[in-house]
This record gives sequence, structure tokens and C-alpha cells, in this order.
Amino acid sequence: MLVYQNDVFKFQSSNLKAFNLAEQKFTIHEFKLQDLNRVMDINLECLPENYSSYFYKNLHRKYPKTFLVAKVNGQIQGYMMCRIERGFSKIRKFSPIKLCHVVSIAVRKSHRRMGIATGILKQAMTNAADIYGATECYLEVRISNFSAIKLYEKLDFENVKRNRGYYLDGEDAFVMAVTL
Ligand code: COA
Repeated sequence: MLVYQNDVFKFQSSNLKAFNLAEQKFTIHEFKLQDLNRVMDINLECLPENYSSYFYKNLHRKYPKTFLVAKVNGQIQGYMMCRIERGFSKIRKFSPIKLCHVVSIAVRKSHRRMGIATGILKQAMTNAADIYGATECYLEVRISNFSAIKLYEKLDFENVKRNRGYYLDGEDAFVMAVTL
């Protein structure tokens, strides 16, 4: 299990009772199938892009190390899931590489601005590089999604492209990418 605290992850193999829970902000775990309903609820609450249960299960089956949840006091409050793709670098055009594509990330309103999204993104990017061999991470974000754009900029993502009419309601997306 990974505990995110003071901007570092500490790997702990013993059980939770061994920790000082009072000092923990949140913990990061790999998604398990039993988490599916909770994650789907958070997605419905936070984002207009929603998916079938098959979609979640398929991403989990293929890329379990980049499907993460964050728990506060044992309750999931945020998640993120990715797809590992072969394709061209978004940053250095025409270089064929393995990319980590962030498909969805959300944190419940009640638990925002405590570093959860930063924590799960950093951990998923580490896993994407170390376990799947990805050398770049990218995502699409609504051009109006100020808070998410700020989050990605803070993690050194750069705005590489604008996809016109990317979303079903017609809004444009920025494609943002970072080298891992
Ligand atoms: N306003 C301005 N900056 C914000 C922000 C906001 N409302 N929320 C996050 N940020 C920026 C800040 O720079 C913040 O650092 P700081 O708190 O030290 O200032 C940084 O992002 C990290 O924030 P963090 O606490 O890690 O993010 P979070 O756990 O609150 O989650 C989102 C951020 C975007 C995932 C969350 O707001 C969310 O779930 N939104 C709805 C779903 C969504 O838009 N997902 C992204 C789709 S591309």
C-alpha cells in the first residue's frame, strides 16, 4: 500500500494499524473490482463523460497499475484510469513511443485541494513509466476546466494542441502532455 504524505510516497507492507492514522491525509491503492460502483458514482458526480461498467473493467484488466483510487479514512474519494498506447509523441512530433493516456480523473468535491489528484497522477505516471515503459503522459481537458489545467501545469504538462469540438457538447479540448 502507498501512503502519500509530505509529497513522498512511503511503501508499507504491514497493515494499516501500524500507522499513525491521524497524520495521514490519504492513501493510494490499485483499483479492485469491488471498487467499481463507488468509482462510477464519483465519475457521475464529477464529470459529464460517463462510461459503461465494461469500459472500466476492460481498462482495469489491461492496465491495472495505472487504475488507482485514493482513500480517506478507508473511503474512496478519488480515482484515475489510463490507457497505455503506442503512438507518436505529442511533444516531439514523429517519434514513435509508448504513451500513458489519462482517460479519466476525478476527486469528490468534498475532498478537493488536499493533493489527491496530484498524488494519484504522480503515482500513475511513475507506474506507467516503470511498469509499462511509457515515456510520455498526455490527456485531453476542456478549455474551460481551469482547475484541471492548473493541476496539470503544476505537474509540468504543456499545452501541445487544441482539438476543436472534441467533446460531445462541442467544447474544444486542450491536449496536454509531459515527458516521463
Ligand atoms: N482552482 C485553482 N487551482 C486548482 C483548483 C481550483 N479549483 N483545483 C486544483 N487546482 C490546482 C492548484 O494549483 C492545486 O495546487 P494548490 O492546492 O497547492 O494550489 C493543484 O491543482 C493540485 O490540486 P489537487 O489538490 O491535487 O487537486 P484535486 O485533488 O482537488 O483534484 C481535479 C483536481 C481537477 C481532479 C478536481 O477538481 C476534479 O475532480 N474536478 C472534476 C473532474 C475533472 O475536471 N477532472 C479532470 C478532467 S480532464
